Amino acid sequence: MVIRLISWFAENARPLPWREPNVTAWGILVSEVMLQQTPVARVEPMWHAWMRRWPTPGDLASASTAEVLEAWGRLGYPRRALRLHQAAHRIATEYDGQVPSDAALLRALPGIGEYTAAAIQSFAFGMPALVLDINIRRVLGRVFGGVERVSSSITHTDRQWAARAFDEAHRHPSWNAAIMEFGALICTSRSPACGECPIADRCKWRLAGYPPSELTPRTQ
Ligand code: ADE
Repeated sequence: MVIRLISWFAENARPLPWREPNVTAWGILVSEVMLQQTPVARVEPMWHAWMRRWPTPGDLASASTAEVLEAWGRLGYPRRALRLHQAAHRIATEYDGQVPSDAALLRALPGIGEYTAAAIQSFAFGMPALVLDINIRRVLGRVFGGVERVSSSITHTDRQWAARAFDEAHRHPSWNAAIMEFGALICTSRSPACGECPIADRCKWRLAGYPPSELTPRTQ
C-alpha cells in the first residue's frame, strides 16, 4: 500500500536544490544540518549562497569562525554553524575531504546524530538506511498504528513500522524522500489533507476516526 507514495512522490516532489542529481555528499550534509531546525523556505537561499562560497569541506575548514557565524546569519541556532565548521575540518583532515558513508563515522562528526546520519546515507549514498525524523514517525504512527505520535524520541515500535514500510515500498531508493515529502505536504501535523492522500483508504488513523494524541488535551 505504501508503495503508492513512490508514484505520488514522482509526481509531486518539490524541486529542492539538494535533490538535484549532481549535488555532492557534502552539499547534502550541509542541507541536512540546516534543515535540522529551519524550514525549507528559509534554508533554500542560504544553502545556495553557502555552497557557492564553500563548495567543499576543505573550503569551509579554511574559513574563520567569525565568517562562518556571520554567513549562518538568520538560520538560527548558531551552534549548528560551529559544529558544521568543526565537521568540515574533520572531513578535510581525516577523510581526505570525502564525507564518510559509514553510520558510525558519520555520527562521530560534530552535529550529526542518528537522524542526520541516516538521511546522509540515504540521500547522498543511496544506502538503505531508515530515516526517522519526527514527521516520518507521525506518518508511520498514523498509517500503521492508527495513533497520533507525540514522543520526541525514537521508539522500538517506530523502528518496526519504518522497517515494515521500507519493505512494503520494495526498499525503493526514493522511499525516505517520498515519505518525508508526504509528511511535509499531505500528512501534516495540524491539517492533514486526507482528501488528497493516495493511501487514505488504508490509513489506520483515518479508519479509527482520527483519535487525538493521548498526551494532547482535546481542547488544544
Ligand atoms: N527536512 C529534512 N531533510 C529534508 C530534505 N532532505 N528535504 C526536505 N525537507 C527536509
